[in-house]
Order: sequence, then C-alpha cells, then structure tokens
Amino acid sequence: MSFEWYDEFVDLDHEPDKDDLVCIFRIEPDGISLEEAAGRVASESSVGTWTTLSTLPERIDSLKARVFEIQENTAKISYPLELFEEGNIPQLLSSIAGNVFGMKALKKLRLEDVIIPEKYARRFPGPAYGIEGVRKFMGIKKRPLTATVPKPKVGFNADEYAKIAEESLRGGIDLLKDDENLTSQSFIRFEKRLEKVMKVIERVEHETGEHKSYMVNITAETEEMKRRMEAVADYGNKYVMVDIITSGWSSLQTIRNMAGDLGLAIHAHRAMHGAFTKLPDHGISIKVITKLSRLAGVDNMHVGTGVGKMSGKTEEVTELAGICRDDMFGLKRVFPVSSGGLHPGLVPDIITLFGTDVIIQAGGGIHGHPSGSEAGARALRQAIDVALEGIPLEDGAKNYRELSLALKKWGTARPK
Ligand code: 3PG
Ligand code: 3PG
Ligand code: MG
Repeated sequence: MSFEWYDEFVDLDHEPDKDDLVCIFRIEPDGISLEEAAGRVASESSVGTWTTLSTLPERIDSLKARVFEIQENTAKISYPLELFEEGNIPQLLSSIAGNVFGMKALKKLRLEDVIIPEKYARRFPGPAYGIEGVRKFMGIKKRPLTATVPKPKVGFNADEYAKIAEESLRGGIDLLKDDENLTSQSFIRFEKRLEKVMKVIERVEHETGEHKSYMVNITAETEEMKRRMEAVADYGNKYVMVDIITSGWSSLQTIRNMAGDLGLAIHAHRAMHGAFTKLPDHGISIKVITKLSRLAGVDNMHVGTGVGKMSGKTEEVTELAGICRDDMFGLKRVFPVSSGGLHPGLVPDIITLFGTDVIIQAGGGIHGHPSGSEAGARALRQAIDVALEGIPLEDGAKNYRELSLALKKWGTARPK
C-alpha cells in the first residue's frame, strides 16, 4: 500500500467555486508525471504533507486544494478561500508560493498567475489615492506625470541632492524620486535630505505655480519606516516610496495602514523582483506581484518600459498596466510608472504604449542632458507636449532648444 496520497489532490472533473482562489503553475517535474507533480504542489500548498495521515477529519477534506486542469506543462489549482487568512499577503504567499518552490520532486516551478476572487480582494484596502487621487493633489488633469531620480543614484550629500532636485523641478518635473538604494547613508541622512528637498519644493511651487511632490524612500526596518513616514507627513509632503520586495509584504501592509491615517500616497519600487521573475520557467511572475501590490494598496507601481534598460517586453508592460488600471472589484486604479533608461526620444513610444495615465520617470535621461538637469527636465516636458500633439519629435524639436539637444545626444536609442 502506498503511503502517498497526491492523487487525492487531483480531480480533473472538479469545477472551482466562484469564491475559490485559482493558481496557474508551470511545472517541470523531476522524473514523475505532470499530474503527480501538480498533485504534490496542491497538497503541500494546502493541507497535505508527504504521507497519508492516521487522523483526517472529514471536514478537512473540503479544504484540499485541487488540480482541476492540466495542459502541456501547466496546471490550474483551486484553493478554498478558508485556507487563507483575511488580508494577510505573507500568509497567502507562504501557502501558494512557499514550500512548493523547494520540493525535490520538481525541477522547476513557476507561479504564473493568481486569479483572485472578489471575496478575497474585499479584505484589502487597495490604493488610498490611486490615479484619480494623485491627479487631484498634483493638480494635473490629463497629461502623463513626470518624475526624476537624481543621478548618480547614491553619493550626493544633501546639498548637492537638493540642488539637482531644484533644477529638475524648476524645469518642469512634477515628482522627485529617490533611487531604490538611497535611504539614509552616512553622507546623506534621511532627515537632512528631507528637510532640504522640502525647502526646495516650497520654493519651486511658489515660483512655478505647479504642485510638486517628493517620493522619498523610507525603506528600512519597519519601525524606522514608520518613524520616517511621520516625518514626511509632518512636512505636509504627500508621498513616500518603498522598495516593496526587499522590505517585504508585511511591512508594506503596515505602511499602507499608516499611510491611510497620515494621508500619504505610496510609490512602490520593485527592485529585486528580477531574482524570481526573470526566468520564464521558474519563480513567480511579475503579474502576480503587481496584483498583490494593488491589493496591498500601493498608489504607484513600476511596470517597466518595454523600450528602456530593463528586461520587460512591451506585451508584459501592457499587461501590467492593465493590472494597475483595469477594474479590480472597485479598488482604486494604480498609477503605472514607466522607468529605467528613458529619455525624451522614447516618450512617444511610452505614450503609445500607455496612453496618458502613466508616470514617465527618467534619471539619466534628465541629468545626462548636455545642458544639465533643468534643461533635461524641460526637454522631457517638451517631448510630452509634442507627442500629445501627435507631431513627430524631430519636427516639434525645431521649436524647442532643450528637446533638440536631447535628441542630438540620444536620438531614439533604446539603452541596454
Ligand atoms: C528608477 O529608480 O526608476 C531609476 O533609477 C530610473 O533611472 P534611469 O532613468 O537612469 O534608468
Ligand atoms: C531603476 O531603478 O532603474 C528602474 O526604474 C527599475 O526598473 P523597473 O522600473 O522596471 O522596476
Ligand atoms: Mg533606480
């Protein structure tokens, strides 16, 4: 008699309930059938272990995850919602993306998608502001928002940083953003940088009559992040930025709760996602990460460019923009952020890809402008104006010195 029971987790006639959560896995079994491998995934990610048990109350049988469809190397598994605690993303991932990734019976495993039922989504806050809320506090009705990350990404002291910030914001950038690895190093402590940048924002807002905001990176140990959020809110700034993967889901949920109380929007940077999203046949897809981020309640989410320096292709970027912006059980819409190797010459591509509900963010593409950061900022805004008028950039650039200089340096190059 076999001591195993994986086949009990496979039922190809099963029809998932509308409240079930469904996972789509791609599986490369190690010397066993796909059906058995999928059964093992369903077992380990729900109620099972490696062997039959001497005591199994009947009630628990109904909590089993079930493999209900197998096609080529893909298996669909349904999970009764009772398996998951309300509003707890770490617990969800410990189930559907936990031990299963280390199982000896599988060579590779990819969690490609998670179909989230409304009942589960309702347990989360979603974004506090979303696209419409951010547009409102920024006072920008239709055009894409612009953001910049001072470069070099780390190394400036607070004064140098504030200077670049001032030039960029004065040139027309809406949002200043810290880089993902800039937090509170010895040469640029958080409080000092925040203080200097907030002074700049006050000055430039007054000068230009435009709203500006600072997506300040609070990433740290969670209690420290909370302290930094308080400081940001005290200045009346509207944004914080969090590296959501390196910080983790638990701290993101804490930050979202507190952001709600303090009236702050969250800019989510996804640094490190490539460690588990990049190989197509192993890990967790960025689609899953983006869905969970919307549930958790980020207001801005990086989704890639399709044409810049990072790997995501245009189809992926479009799909992620959909996850951010399409209806998701009435949760507010997340502002997709397109960043990574952008410069004015690529703006028409980005607008074609996203339309206008996008934050166009450029670091090198602003601060590498031959006439400096302020000119770089102007060139980006000019490129947006020209693209929105539907005129080819080279034609529009005839009227704009900064844009024409940017095009001279970068053309429409797609950086590696
Ligand atoms: C970001 O954090 O989004 C980037 O640092 C953008 O930088 P880049 O435009 O120079 O690639
Ligand atoms: C950067 O930090 O340079 C990038 O913007 C990160 O890439 P992503 O926007 O594709 O996450
Ligand atoms: Mg960066």
